[in-house]
Amino acid sequence: MRKNDEEGVTPRPTLVLRGVQVFQGWLDRTAQEALLAEIRDVVRAAPLFQPVTPSGRRMSVQMTSAGDVGWIADRSGYRYADRHPQGTLWPDIPPTVRAVWDAVSGSPRAPDSCLINLYRDTAKMGLHQDRDEADTSHPVVSVSLGDDGLFRIGNTTRGGPTEAVWLKSGDVVVMGGDARLVYHGIDKTRPGSSTVLSGGGRLNLTLRVAT
Ligand code: SIN
Ligand code: FE2
Repeated sequence: MRKNDEEGVTPRPTLVLRGVQVFQGWLDRTAQEALLAEIRDVVRAAPLFQPVTPSGRRMSVQMTSAGDVGWIADRSGYRYADRHPQGTLWPDIPPTVRAVWDAVSGSPRAPDSCLINLYRDTAKMGLHQDRDEADTSHPVVSVSLGDDGLFRIGNTTRGGPTEAVWLKSGDVVVMGGDARLVYHGIDKTRPGSSTVLSGGGRLNLTLRVAT
C-alpha cells in the first residue's frame, strides 16, 4: 500500500512514544480516500451510535464496528458483541483496512474487530486501557482520518506522567508488546484542520484481535 511495504518486512515507525509506535503519514491522500469510501459503506450498513456507559454518561464519540464482533458500551458494561445494537450482524472488515494491519502489526493473526470512532466538535476519549480482548498479547492498530487529534499516552497503571502527540490524517499507531496495555486517550481534536471528511471531524479505526 505504501512505503516499506515489502512482503514480510515490518516497517519502522517514525516516532516511538512510551513504546507506542507511530507511523506518521503512513497513508497518502489517495489511500485515505480509499479507506473512507469503505468506511462509508460500513456506516451505511451499521449506523453510528452514541453509547451510554455503565455509569449512565453518554460518550461524546459516535461509534460502530466491522468484523465478527464489535465493541459496545451500554448500561450493563463494556464488551464485544456479535451484533449491532439494532440487531444486525456487523459488516466485514474492509480489505483496505485489513491491509494496514497486515503491513504494520507484525502479527500473524487477522483482526476480528474494527471499531470506528467519529469525533465531532468537542468529542474526546478519556484515558483508558484496551483490555476487553480475550488475549491482550495481540497488538492494537489504529488509523486516524480527518481532523488532528491530540493522543495522550500514560502508563500501564492509572496515573503518573503522560505525554501527547497530535495524530494527523493518515497516521497509524501500533500498541503492542510492553505498550499494549498503556493508558491512552484523545484530549481533543482540532475541528477544521483537515478536509478529508466532507462533514468534518475525526475518524479513528481501531483494529484488534478480540476473541
Ligand atoms: C481509542 O483508544 O479508543 C481511540 C483512540 C483514537 O481515537 O485515536
Ligand atoms: Fe483505546
